[in-house]
Amino acid sequence: MPRKGNYRVDYEDDYDAYEDYEYYDNDNDYDYGYNANENGVVPESKEIQEAAKIGIWRCPICTYDNEDDMSACEICGVLRNPLVKGHSKSSSGPAPYKFDGPSPDDLVSSGMRSSTLGSKANFKTSSSPDVSRKEKELKIEVEREITIEGHDSSSASTSKEKGPLLKIEGKPQTISGDMMKMSISSKSGSAKNANRARASVSAPFKPEKWMLPDQIEDKLSQLNLAIVGHVDSGKSTLSGRLLHLLGRISQKEFHKYEREAKQLGKGSFAYAWALDESAEERERGITMTVAVAFFDTKKYHIVLLDSPGHKDFVPNMISGATQADAAILVIDASVGAFEAGMDASGGQTREHTQLIRSFGADQIIVAVNKMDAVEYSRERFDIIKQKLGVFLRSCSFKESSILWIPMSAMENQNLVDVPSDTRLSWYQGLCLLDAIDSLQPPVRDYSKPLLLPICDVIKSQSQGQLSVVGKVENGALRSGYKVLVMPSGEIATVRSLERDNHVCNIARAGDNVTVSLQGVDPNRVTAGGVLCHPDFPVAVSKHFELKIVVLDVTTPILIGSQLEFHIHHTKEVARVVKILSLLDPKTGKVSKKSPRCLLSKQNAVIEVALEEEVCVEEYSRCKALGRVSLRASGRTIALGVVTKIVQNEQ
Ligand code: GTP
Ligand code: MG
Repeated sequence: MPRKGNYRVDYEDDYDAYEDYEYYDNDNDYDYGYNANENGVVPESKEIQEAAKIGIWRCPICTYDNEDDMSACEICGVLRNPLVKGHSKSSSGPAPYKFDGPSPDDLVSSGMRSSTLGSKANFKTSSSPDVSRKEKELKIEVEREITIEGHDSSSASTSKEKGPLLKIEGKPQTISGDMMKMSISSKSGSAKNANRARASVSAPFKPEKWMLPDQIEDKLSQLNLAIVGHVDSGKSTLSGRLLHLLGRISQKEFHKYEREAKQLGKGSFAYAWALDESAEERERGITMTVAVAFFDTKKYHIVLLDSPGHKDFVPNMISGATQADAAILVIDASVGAFEAGMDASGGQTREHTQLIRSFGADQIIVAVNKMDAVEYSRERFDIIKQKLGVFLRSCSFKESSILWIPMSAMENQNLVDVPSDTRLSWYQGLCLLDAIDSLQPPVRDYSKPLLLPICDVIKSQSQGQLSVVGKVENGALRSGYKVLVMPSGEIATVRSLERDNHVCNIARAGDNVTVSLQGVDPNRVTAGGVLCHPDFPVAVSKHFELKIVVLDVTTPILIGSQLEFHIHHTKEVARVVKILSLLDPKTGKVSKKSPRCLLSKQNAVIEVALEEEVCVEEYSRCKALGRVSLRASGRTIALGVVTKIVQNEQ
C-alpha cells in the first residue's frame, strides 16, 4: 500500500504568472565545452597570460587581478600557492568537461574545482596574512589533493575521506552526541578548528564488506521514479492503475475505492484514491502530498513517488523530486489541457520538468495520457511530442534519454501490455512497464560514508517507537548500526529497517527505507535532518555560495532579496547577501564581477544567508545534499548547486 510522506504541506495562494520559459535559448546552443584541445586540456586564456606578465596574478576562479604579494584571491579567497605550484593548463581554467546543458552537473562544472578550492581555502584565514606556515602547508596539501581529484565521482569520496566539512561554525552546543564531542575535542580542542583537524587527521572512510552490494543477494536494484506533471493530467490514476494491474492493489481494495468515490460523486477518481488517501485530497480531487508506493518490474524494485500537480503544492513536489532517479512526466493529451500545462502563466509541466532535471533525474518517460479523449490521434501525439520535445531539450534532457508513450490510464491502454485498442495500432514502441525497464540504472555511492536525508519522522506514541523515512544517498546502514542524527548531533542505534513494509537487513545507497531508531530523544530527530556515519557528519550551516541559473523572473534578484531556499527535504527563509559574479552560460567563465542584480536566464555565483542552519554538502561532495532551488512569491525563480559552505564568524 502506498505511504504518504510528510512532505510539508504548503499553501501558496499568490502564485503569480509563470513567464514563458526559454532560459537556455534552445537546443543548438548547448555546447558547454570549454574549448579544450585534443588532449582535453583547456588552454590558458590570453588575459591570464597577459596578467601574469605585469606583477599581478589573476585568480583562475573569479578572474580578479590580485597584487603579486597576495597569497589568496581578494575576492573569492582561493589560495594562490597551490595554483602557482601546480600551474598547469588545467589549473588555470575550468576542467575540460563537455557539457550537454544546464543540469546541476553543468552548473557546477566550471566552478566545481574552484568551489572546492574556495571552500577549502576558506579555512577562515584564506586571505589573512597571519596564516601560520604550518596551516598554510596543510591547506595547500588538502587543496592539491582535491585539485588532483578534480571532478569525477571519486572526488567526492576522496575529499570526504580526507575529512568532511564539519561546519558547526562555532556552535558546539548544537552537537550533543558523545562521539561528536569526542572527535571535536580530542582532535582540535575547539569546534571552530574541527574542519581543519578532520581534514588533516581523519582516517579515510573504508567501507565494510557488508556495505557493498552483493550481486547474488538481490538481482533487482532500486529505482526511485517520480510521477510529475500538470494538475489533473492523471498522475494518480496512472499510478493507481499500474499498482492494480501489477497486483499491488487487490480487487477488494479497488472495489472499495470505486464504491466510496462514487458515493462522493467522484467515480472517475477510483484509481487515484489508492494514492490520494486523505479526506481533503479525496474531496478536492487533487493530490496534496507525495504518495510513495512500491512495485517490482523485471529489472527494478520501483519506488513510485506520486507528486501533486497543483501549483500550491510545488514545495511538496520538490521534496519528492529530490529523491528521483528518473521521472514519468504525465501529459494530458486532451485539447487545451496539454496547452494549459505548457502555459507561461502557471503550467506545471514546465516547472516540474525544470525541477526534476535540476534534481538530477536525466532520464524521462513522457506518458502522453488521456489519449482516449483525442481518439488516440497520432497527429495530436506528434504535435505534443514536437512542442514538448523542444522544451525538454532546452532543459538539457538528451534526445536519447526521452521516451514517448501514448496511453490511456483510464482505459488501460499501453500500461503493462501492447495496446488493445486498434486506434493505437500506429504506435509500435514500448508499453510503460517495458519503458521503465529500459531505463539505465543510476550510479550509486555505496563506498562513501552514510548520508540519509530524513524526509519524514514517524513517532508511535503507543509503542514508543521512532522511525525515519528517506532515501539512502550515500553508503549503507543495517540493524544495530550506530548513526549520527544531524543537525542535533545525537547518536542513535538502528533497531530495524523496512522497505515496502518488509523488514530488510541492510539498506544501501538508492534504497528508500523506513529506519526504526532507538536510544535517541524523538524531539531531536526532525524531517530535513540527515542520518550519517558518526565519524563523517554532514555539514550544518546557514551561509553558502551558490552557482545558480535564474529562470524567467519578473523582478530582478538583488542583494537583500528574500527567497525561499529548498534543499533536500527542508526549506528555509534566505537572503541574498552577495552577488559575486555573472557567468558566461557557454563557457562557465566569469563575465562580470559584482553585478548589481540578476535577470532572467542569467547564470551567476551568489551568496545566501539562511535564517536557520540546514544540513548541506557541497555539490561536489554529495549531489543530493548540494542541489537547491530558490523560490519567491510561489514560483521557482532559480535552480542551483552549493559550491561553497561559507564559514560564519561567531
Ligand atoms: P493532481 O495530483 O491533483 O495533480 O491530479 P492527477 O494528475 O493525479 O490526476 P488524477 O489522477 O487525480 O486524475 C484527474 C482526472 O483525470 C480524473 O477525473 C481522472 O479520472 C481523469 N483521468 C485520468 N486518466 C485518464 C485517462 O486516461 N483518460 C481520461 N479520459 N481521463 C483520465
Ligand atoms: Mg494526483
